[in-house]
Amino acid sequence: AHQWRGVIREYAERLPVDDSTQVITLGEGGTPLVHAPALSELVSGTVYLKVEGMNPTGSFKDRGMTMAMTAAVAEGAKAVVCASTGNTSASAAAYATQAGLTCAVLVPAGKIAMGKLSQAVAHGAELIQVDGNFDGCLDIARKLSENYPVFLVNSVNPARIEGQKTGAFEVVDALGDAPDYHLLPVGNAGNITAYWKGYQEYSQPWTNLHVEGGEELAAVATHTPIMWGFQAEGAAPIVNGHPITEPETVATAIRIGNPASWEKAEAARDDSAGVIEAVTDEEILAAHRWLSSKEGVFVEPASAAGVAGLIKKHSAGEVPAEKTIVITVTGHGLKDPDWALKNADGSDVTPTMVPQDVETVARQLGL
Ligand code: F0G
Repeated sequence: AHQWRGVIREYAERLPVDDSTQVITLGEGGTPLVHAPALSELVSGTVYLKVEGMNPTGSFKDRGMTMAMTAAVAEGAKAVVCASTGNTSASAAAYATQAGLTCAVLVPAGKIAMGKLSQAVAHGAELIQVDGNFDGCLDIARKLSENYPVFLVNSVNPARIEGQKTGAFEVVDALGDAPDYHLLPVGNAGNITAYWKGYQEYSQPWTNLHVEGGEELAAVATHTPIMWGFQAEGAAPIVNGHPITEPETVATAIRIGNPASWEKAEAARDDSAGVIEAVTDEEILAAHRWLSSKEGVFVEPASAAGVAGLIKKHSAGEVPAEKTIVITVTGHGLKDPDWALKNADGSDVTPTMVPQDVETVARQLGL
């Protein structure tokens, strides 16, 4: 039986590695592309969810981290550093553990979901809470990597983008061609950059990097999709056209005011004839509930931003019928489970208490 070997080995001919590379992997990628019946019905099309919560540490970051950590080892690094809203730190901490490297993570104080914090701690990362936001953390992480012997594993490192582009490869491999539209949340803007790069590379002939003299591989996709990215309204610098000094959103993963890959995200938007728009926290939480209650897919709030975007664009009459639409849902619901325990009006969900008695339970269940 075939066992998925992680994105570097599965897509080696398209990644900057060679036979002598010591690959750091936890078996990331190979995530399910799940048909979403309720969303498909809503837009009279075919909607799939690329469920990235199924990666080893529960988010899409693992695709990039296998490449970044592999590059760190190749360079002889002893320590890695990253800034994070949570998922990157969880991923870096896990992959650094396998690589045998020291890992330092800088996170905004009090704004990290508990699941992510516990992952970083469990994997033994040096956890520094910074009195500031993600943008400030990234600034420090960059300066540390420039002035001290630590290797930066944020998505400003091109190795991260290389790994994350495999998400697009998997979508095309599953569908047999590129979708018409690809939707996803936008925070630091690395992932939209990576997907666009992956879709572009898959729609052109490619020279195998690992065959002497190069072996021409045919294009896999006949076209590239239209890219639709969504930021949280209180953290929407690209939509507003200027950095946001105090970004705010319930979707803490994308609480970012000055994305590192800003220009590349704009290029993905413009070159694909797409958009980057804002969705409100209410729309994000409604999409989060939609995914749990109608599709059976549990995500963290930020991960629902792409779905919120689809619902919003549909309401505005901007989603053509009969299209194939893929939405990346970026992280697992168990990362930040508290949101599911709130009702739509913000009140707490309270489970019913009953005595230990079959008839009472049956009555309670309406049986
Ligand atoms: N969704 C989730 C769950 C994320 O954790 C992130 C980014 C994004 C979407 C946005 O992706 O930054 O590539 O545009 N999280 C980073 C982190 C910033 O530190 O974990 P992006």
